[in-house]
Amino acid sequence: MARETWATRVGFILAAVGSAVGLGNIWRFPFITGQEGGSAFLLVYLAFILLIGFPALLVEFVVGRRTELNPVGAIRELGSGAWQYVGYLFVVTGFIILSYYSVVAGWFLRYTVIGVTDGYAAGAASPEAAEALFGGVATGLDSLLFHALFMTLVIGIIAAGIRSGIEVAVKVMVPAIVVLLIGLAAYGFTLDASTEAYAYYLSPDFGVIAENWTSILPAAAGQAFFTLSLGMGVMITYASYLGEDRNLAEDAGVIVGLDTLIAVIVGFVVFPFLFAAGLTPGDGGPGEIFVSLTSAFAEIPAGRVIGVIFFAMVGIAALSSAISILEVLASYLIDEFGIERVPAAAGLGVAVFLLGVPVTVDLVFLDLLDLFADSILLVLGALLLALFVGWAVPEVAREELERGIGDLGGLGDLWIWVVRIPVVIVVFVSLYLGVVE
Ligand code: PHE
Ligand code: NA
Repeated sequence: MARETWATRVGFILAAVGSAVGLGNIWRFPFITGQEGGSAFLLVYLAFILLIGFPALLVEFVVGRRTELNPVGAIRELGSGAWQYVGYLFVVTGFIILSYYSVVAGWFLRYTVIGVTDGYAAGAASPEAAEALFGGVATGLDSLLFHALFMTLVIGIIAAGIRSGIEVAVKVMVPAIVVLLIGLAAYGFTLDASTEAYAYYLSPDFGVIAENWTSILPAAAGQAFFTLSLGMGVMITYASYLGEDRNLAEDAGVIVGLDTLIAVIVGFVVFPFLFAAGLTPGDGGPGEIFVSLTSAFAEIPAGRVIGVIFFAMVGIAALSSAISILEVLASYLIDEFGIERVPAAAGLGVAVFLLGVPVTVDLVFLDLLDLFADSILLVLGALLLALFVGWAVPEVAREELERGIGDLGGLGDLWIWVVRIPVVIVVFVSLYLGVVE
């Protein structure tokens, strides 16, 4: 059977945007920003997105479109020697990230249901009540069930294939995310606390950068890769389903632009909610957004409805990202072993589910996995891929980038050199700092 391709250009872009926009923008971005000192972090992060994220996204695109293969097969086809094994790192990373990503996504589904059945008032009667509510959602049977539910949805979409699964799903989900998010931001603007919240969010303190750069740098690099779904072959896989030559740089620009815009808008949603409830973005932690937002939704007018919309929106965003990770794993089994799509998706989904079970028992595993995957595996994957494309196969990469654009002249060289040196250095330093920290 011929390998599937996207039906439309919009389908490809929406799938990539759907992958990019997820818990990274909504759950991780605000708490990392809070942890790393607010807008100072935002600035470094934005610089990294532009200077490192965009060129690195193109690297994945050219590898995928050139080979029309899963990441393992793609790198094996282009490379020789030890390079051939880099793709396996991506598969391992995918397993790990999806396992805890699904657990956290399940929490958002659970909070959506709580809003519908009970509202948030009882859960937010006191800080202790909010903590207790979160504890009950995050671990134990509830957590396990919603993890299972979420993985079932992911398996269903991937089993249905590229066109009738992923493409159909993202055409509904991505516009829904954008509309709901803009609505929520507009609502946030009506809150009295918004002025104070915007000020916190938008006034960078350069002193903070100078003081804390050893932690800001790796956090910003890790977040830049995580948010753009880079460093584990998602964008290689999605680009491998491009049947035709198109301008990859343009597509990458749209994807990076939308992901960044959405992350920034999320700040305009979350920070007003927090300030309205008299909370300051604290030192973060994966549970904080749940604890503080339940209090916020109990306080603000129409909080119950707003809360349901918010949590559901995050659930949708997480789903459109999670499918891209399972697709990496599925494409590997399908391409390399000739396994049918449906059993591949189901078998892998179950394996990922099992790997996530410890997280539903103790959140210690979440911190461990998230830290390991984000500050080491993704960054290492991106580093190896940049070295590979920049130094081992630059000619092929350049030629592939120009397919569908035309002769780029000096810009093509610039891209290769950015990948060869600045990307490699920033990623290497971040990896180093991330390891020693
Ligand atoms: N980009 C996704 C997000 O921001 C997370 C992700 C990482 C998805 C890696 C796929 C691969 O939530
Ligand atoms: Na993202």
